[in-house]
Amino acid sequence: SKRQKQRKVLLMGKSGAGKSSMRSIVFSNYVAKDVRRLGATIDVEHSNIKFMGNLMLNLWDCGGQDGFMENYLHHQREHVFGSVAVLIFVFDIESREFQADVINYANIVSALEECSPGAKIFCLIHKMDLVQTKLRQPLFEERAEYIRAASESFRDSVDFFPTSIWDQTLYKAWTQIIYFLIPNASTIETLLQQLAEVIDARELILYERTTCLMVTHVTRGIEAQNPFTDRFERISSILKTHKQSIAKHTGIPAGSANFAEMQIKTGRFMFFITRLTENTNLAASIPPSEQGFNAARIN
Ligand code: GTP
Ligand code: MG
Repeated sequence: SKRQKQRKVLLMGKSGAGKSSMRSIVFSNYVAKDVRRLGATIDVEHSNIKFMGNLMLNLWDCGGQDGFMENYLHHQREHVFGSVAVLIFVFDIESREFQADVINYANIVSALEECSPGAKIFCLIHKMDLVQTKLRQPLFEERAEYIRAASESFRDSVDFFPTSIWDQTLYKAWTQIIYFLIPNASTIETLLQQLAEVIDARELILYERTTCLMVTHVTRGIEAQNPFTDRFERISSILKTHKQSIAKHTGIPAGSANFAEMQIKTGRFMFFITRLTENTNLAASIPPSEQGFNAARIN
């Protein structure tokens, strides 16, 4: 029997920071250029997202206009900040009132500390595409340190990610968030490790089918030296784009559009992505051998 785990996730940050944009891209199959059509969120938009069969994300996309923030903090404090598993706080890198944003964040942190002291905080420093490439890392680190200092009892546990809806950094951040929430990640990893040994894979990467986010991966042998450390989220981004293009050309809603299989064979490696279970796709990288390839696919 499947026991569903409900996890409440708050998505907060000031109005225009980009919260609904990322939610729509990660969970509702929007493409980046579509999000300009989104209006400001009024109060809280709730969505229940089924993830990997037994995880139910209870996502609260909280409109960031001042009046709403006041309301969450003063009139609905226990309702909003109670039973929270994860707070995702989005900072707009272009904001001209960074100090004020951090004060608002600190108020939210206090409410969380009071109502859900065991929660985990992820801070996303967002719209990094608007910063010159050279300045991104130093600016990100500077902001993250400043925000960490305002994180009270979450100071040592808060995680920071630079993000943009225009590249794969969005997937990198959300992959970490989802990984934190998956209840049986270590069981999945053990099984994936066994499968990797059976088919002698250099790497297996498990993707959730709806979001195309990586669930986990197993990397063996020489593959550990693969210099493309962003390959996991790059594939997420490719799968997502592909899904949207299938939807566009066939009329199948992007939510249900899925490819059958993709294969790449070269003299140095062989690679395929295929459906593994109802909720997952598996990407496999194996040594170059036709028999090995066929056996791996069957397994
Ligand atoms: P409220 O609902 O009012 O709290 O705002 P929100 O945080 O939900 O903002 P929303 O997602 O509606 O985005 C506001 C604007 O930011 C949109 O016009 C997006 O196009 C833009 N935006 C979102 N993400 C990015 C990004 O990564 N880079 C850039 N350049 N613009 C972004
Ligand atoms: Mg919004």
